[in-house]
Amino acid sequence: MNKTREIIHYHEETKHHFHRYAKSLGYMDWKNQPNPFRFYENVKTVSLPLLEDTPKTEYMDLYTRKNTAPQAFSLENISRFIALALGLSAWKAISGSRWSLRMNPSSGNLHPTEAHFVLPSTDRTPCGVYHYNPFIHALEQRAVIPRDLWESILNYFQTNGFMAALSSIFWRESWKYGERGFRYCNHDIGHALAGLSFSASLLGWRVTVLNSLSDRDIETILGFDRTAWHDLEEEAPELLCFVHTHEQHNISRGLPIEIIDGFSSLSFYGTPNLLSDNKVNWEIIYKAKELTEKSPTSEKRFDYGHRKFISTSMPSLDAAQIIRQRRSAVSFNPGGHISKHRFMAMLDKTLPRNLCAPFDAELFDPNIHLFIFVHKVREMLPGLYFFIRNEHHLREIQHLAKPDFLWEQIDPKFPLYLLKNGEFRQTAIKISCHQDIAGDSVFSLGMIARFKSLLDKEPFRYRHLFWESGMVGQVLYLEAEAHELRGTGIGCFFDDAVHDLLGFEDNAFQSLYHFTIGDPVEDNRLTVYPPYYHLKNR
Ligand SMILES: Cc1cc2nc3c(=O)[nH]c(=O)nc-3n(C[C@H](O)[C@H](O)[C@H](O)COP(=O)(O)O)c2cc1C
Repeated sequence: MNKTREIIHYHEETKHHFHRYAKSLGYMDWKNQPNPFRFYENVKTVSLPLLEDTPKTEYMDLYTRKNTAPQAFSLENISRFIALALGLSAWKAISGSRWSLRMNPSSGNLHPTEAHFVLPSTDRTPCGVYHYNPFIHALEQRAVIPRDLWESILNYFQTNGFMAALSSIFWRESWKYGERGFRYCNHDIGHALAGLSFSASLLGWRVTVLNSLSDRDIETILGFDRTAWHDLEEEAPELLCFVHTHEQHNISRGLPIEIIDGFSSLSFYGTPNLLSDNKVNWEIIYKAKELTEKSPTSEKRFDYGHRKFISTSMPSLDAAQIIRQRRSAVSFNPGGHISKHRFMAMLDKTLPRNLCAPFDAELFDPNIHLFIFVHKVREMLPGLYFFIRNEHHLREIQHLAKPDFLWEQIDPKFPLYLLKNGEFRQTAIKISCHQDIAGDSVFSLGMIARFKSLLDKEPFRYRHLFWESGMVGQVLYLEAEAHELRGTGIGCFFDDAVHDLLGFEDNAFQSLYHFTIGDPVEDNRLTVYPPYYHLKNR
């Protein structure tokens, strides 16, 4: 089998069908539930200041950074940046059980994503490689970087800044979701990357993905090749970014080999904590990881063009507050609705633009489109719609989709098309693993990715497609909050039922992630606690 076929094999095997779900244990092995918090034991731990005053920034500055003057790269600001991207957002409790939530969402709240930072020296810390521990909002020092290595990094980028990296622990997701878990880990990376990008905006910073690096390079920089992992609990390197002021536009997308070699001789400290006593080896996940491993590539820059945002008359919104209040809805009031203008403004935010977060992290060209079930948008007919995020794909999608779709453009300047009128609440529920949230909402959608042709060229793009869908999801989560609604990512859907609805018969395009937005119904049985109340005596 060639690589594309093998990746498609993973994808096919992990589809949910009406007659069978993707392979998983089939029951919850509570005794071995993985610890959602990674600690590196026997390291120096640097407590970060808890988030009190957040930068006062207008919501639109999350995207445009027009009014955010770049802040110093101090430990306090780095702490704010990390807290608003990846820190705890609340604790919830009900009848004796208690769980934490984070700024970034995660499938099943299992949080497979870990974060590491390569930081300059500060008044409290030496220049080094640090793991972020969100439970105690602290940095765990894994390596100290000699001054000449740090200077060569800054000389190379020709500006101040630091590096942020994300990794995945597949076991955390596969514990519950089995073989499909690899997909969810990658969705979560996309959410976290967008979270980092938005949080950077608040401080006048920007995150740029170093897209030429290989997974091995990232492993070397983070010392993963010198870490004593517990079996099946290793962190897989995903991506590395440079965080810099948003005024710097000409950031390199890679690192020279001499700098990567400089990291290979560092001593790394700390032993990762054990997450579960007993684990299941879902071999297909490790095969998928191997098949989608990224080798070094040339540096790539992307031109997304400039496009004015659709403006809405929203009351002045505090950007940090929107990030902090983000939650997943668990139930919707089916009477909820929004105006067509607001609906379009929400979709508009998912379009990449030059110099606008989060897509100017510059992962890749846009390859995700939105297939939308409009349930209750005022001044619009309920029905099936398609939102094109990359106009170069329009003709091909039209050609592959059912011939009786209308493709009526809603507005000549906006890439939203009506495919078919009708009431699709029950269909949306049915294809989303019978989850009511997909039908009781204002609208729900499937993220349709250009698929086989990308994998043929670059198999590692399989992961990037899920990352892009996670980034789109993060935009939708924040937009929902900004419009006084609430969103929920939907990883559980019957893949081919979506393709049948569209008329797609092959792998040219595939649905990778679903999302729903509506008027939330709160669960009043839950008690909510502040994010770091467990550290109040620190
Ligand atoms: C990739 C992904 C898939 C998800 N799939 C579902 C889903 O199918 N059904 C659901 O009710 N929630 C789903 N969620 C929402 C998570 O359960 C939620 O993010 C998690 O419980 C944490 O809660 P929070 O988002 O309020 O912080 C998903 C979230 C993500 C990021």
